[in-house]
Amino acid sequence: MPLVLHMQNVSRSFSSPSGVVPILRNVNLRVLSGTAVAIRGPSGCGKSTLLYLAGTLDQPTSGHIEILGENPWRLSTNRLAAFRNQHIGFVFQDHQLLPQCSVLENVLLPSLAGFNSQGDVRNRALKLIDRVGLSHRLHQRPGRLSGGERQRVAVCRALIHQPSLLLADEPTGNLDPETAADVGSLLLEVAAENDTALLCVTHSDELAARFLHTIQLHQGCAKFGEFPVSA
Ligand SMILES: Nc1ncnc2c1ncn2[C@@H]1O[C@H](COP(=O)(O)OP(=O)(O)OP(=O)(O)O)[C@@H](O)[C@H]1O
Ligand SMILES: [Mg+2]
Repeated sequence: MPLVLHMQNVSRSFSSPSGVVPILRNVNLRVLSGTAVAIRGPSGCGKSTLLYLAGTLDQPTSGHIEILGENPWRLSTNRLAAFRNQHIGFVFQDHQLLPQCSVLENVLLPSLAGFNSQGDVRNRALKLIDRVGLSHRLHQRPGRLSGGERQRVAVCRALIHQPSLLLADEPTGNLDPETAADVGSLLLEVAAENDTALLCVTHSDELAARFLHTIQLHQGCAKFGEFPVSA
């Protein structure tokens, strides 16, 4: 199984008026393809920070990150954007849909950026939107959707390019239990179908229980972890 995400001694601190605040300390993590890992821990412990680093949206203060064997920070800005677009899907905690675009356009956004032209992307978008039960909302703008509907659109957008690495930050946070279970199933099923490495932050015991592996963040530290755990 290919190694998708490799973090070595990764730390991230932030500057504040009262000095430098360490958030993540010496995180070591290896996640192989086809592996789904839940990330848990109290609010403010650094779960989103960890996901941003894994998603190349933020750079570590120290340590080393490789994705699919590539050090993303050695790439030019344009190549990094293309790499991210091709290999990484991100479901943000606050979904971050573009308000002026419809549901369909939001899901198609990664392909509109022009980095990836594989297959019939529009058909895949329509299938994903149907799978989350939003076909009747295709041409609505996010402002007219409920929080849960927006979250489902954000999940479709993250899945549109069948990423090798799927990062989901509390993807069921805004959803009622039934929809949350559906969205959880969608993430796990699509990840399994495509041999995706899935890292999913969740406060939900129900969702976490469906993952074979869990990372518990304690004060920004994650013990050395390899997923799946080697024998
Ligand atoms: N850009 C930043 N500048 C300064 N501090 C930051 C920044 N990003 C995050 N932090 C701080 O780092 C800590 C961890 O934030 P993070 O968003 O990773 O927490 P979390 O575990 O995702 O919490 P939650 O469960 O509430 O989403 C918080 O104290 C936060 O204020
Ligand atoms: Mg968070």
